[in-house]
Amino acid sequence: MSSQQKTFYIETFGCQMNFHDSEKVVGTLISEGYAQVEREEEADLILYNTCSIRDKAEQKVFHRLNDFKKLHKEGKRFAVLGCVAQQEGEKIFERAPYVSLVAGSASYRNLPEMLVQIGAGATRVTGLDDRETDQTFATEFTARTNPHRGYITIIEGCDKFCAYCVVPYTRGKERSRTSESVLNEARCMADAGFTEIQLLGQNVNSYRDPAGKKSFAELLAAVGEVPGIRRVRFTTSHPRDFTKDIVDAIDAVPTLCDHVHLPVQSGSSRVLESMFREYSREQYLERIAWMKSTRNRELSITTDVIAGFPSETEAEFSESLSLLDEVGYDGVFAFKYSPRPNTPALQYADSIPEEEKSRRLQVLLEHQRELQRLSYRRHVGQILEVMVEGKNPAKGQLVGRTSQNKTLNFVLNGQPEPGIGEYSCVLVTQAFPNSLLGELAV
Ligand code: SAH
Ligand code: SF4
Ligand code: F3S
Repeated sequence: MSSQQKTFYIETFGCQMNFHDSEKVVGTLISEGYAQVEREEEADLILYNTCSIRDKAEQKVFHRLNDFKKLHKEGKRFAVLGCVAQQEGEKIFERAPYVSLVAGSASYRNLPEMLVQIGAGATRVTGLDDRETDQTFATEFTARTNPHRGYITIIEGCDKFCAYCVVPYTRGKERSRTSESVLNEARCMADAGFTEIQLLGQNVNSYRDPAGKKSFAELLAAVGEVPGIRRVRFTTSHPRDFTKDIVDAIDAVPTLCDHVHLPVQSGSSRVLESMFREYSREQYLERIAWMKSTRNRELSITTDVIAGFPSETEAEFSESLSLLDEVGYDGVFAFKYSPRPNTPALQYADSIPEEEKSRRLQVLLEHQRELQRLSYRRHVGQILEVMVEGKNPAKGQLVGRTSQNKTLNFVLNGQPEPGIGEYSCVLVTQAFPNSLLGELAV
């Protein structure tokens, strides 16, 4: 690294979309001549790619800025990117005057110009106006962190406006990429040695090919048929737009993984209505029934649940618990309701006390843990294919991931060690609530 080379440090909060955006930002910075460093102290430019989904997530960036603001005196520059940037806009300069750049995700293709402005001494550069106009952020520079599996954004933004959620405000209107550009990116990734692709969007099933060529299910199947690609995943699905042809595609195309993440948010139709989710418990269960009636696959289903949404009664909360029993999820991400700026749910009184929200969250998580403790046992005795993800030298194990997206740790049983990114068949010998243990199959 030459002494004149500009350096940057980036830290990412939030969802896979943000993580992948950061890969694009890193690629762009590198193509602009910057080098990435691992610590704030070593960087000329410090970037935080932020998340605003819950209040705790939002506060993280202000903690970080506070921890490192003294570095500003040494001439280092700070940039706040992502959902808090888009939501708070120029207010961030008031709260943290040492920040030089505030930019939302739709403006990143203008990063090179914004960096020039900062380089020339500008102190309050913004990229906040592109939420509706940005089609797709050019991805030719994307610096993917994992050489074996990578993300492809197929749709940006969200038009659903669920009552509690900031995303439609922070990421703007839905914009889909053409199926052709998605497939081109998939082919380039396959040529570069990637074998697993995850299609990304806040709401992947509302994908609409601007060229009118492919539905979401057809795009999914086409990515699965790209030579060299062995696994395809997609996230996140919205139950309202989740159609049966998606399940049929998974059933028909072997490379599409045995896993669907279908966030439900609540088991009560009354609560779902006040969340503006646009489906009832019964309609949600109908989609689950499709997934359970596949001919060739056992699909693993995971979900998100919010505990303590305004006016959720004890009986309505119990409906979320009974839904967990009824569906038999392999994983549940549960959150306490967090009131968010600009969202319609702010009109409702945040009526559930914090301790009660916490109690419901704990009850829900424990209920689910017990279900998984029993249900993961179904895999004992099965031979499952894993992609090798890493090593746990302390335990003498390798870490693998199954098509169902479960962690399967395994020992070699005297056989040669597979490399990271390779695929191996593993005999499952033990089950835990959140992972499996096995040995390399002969
Ligand atoms: N687009 C996805 C989810 C995006 S946000 C979908 O519609 O399912 C990820 C999860 O965060 C949501 O599924 C929801 O469970 C949770 N979440 C979003 N806003 C929240 C809030 N204000 N309080 C608590 N949890 C929230
Ligand atoms: Fe938020 Fe709803 Fe859009 Fe998901 S679908 S990102 S929860 S508004
Ligand atoms: Fe967070 Fe924005 Fe993702 S609010 S969850 S980083 S879309």
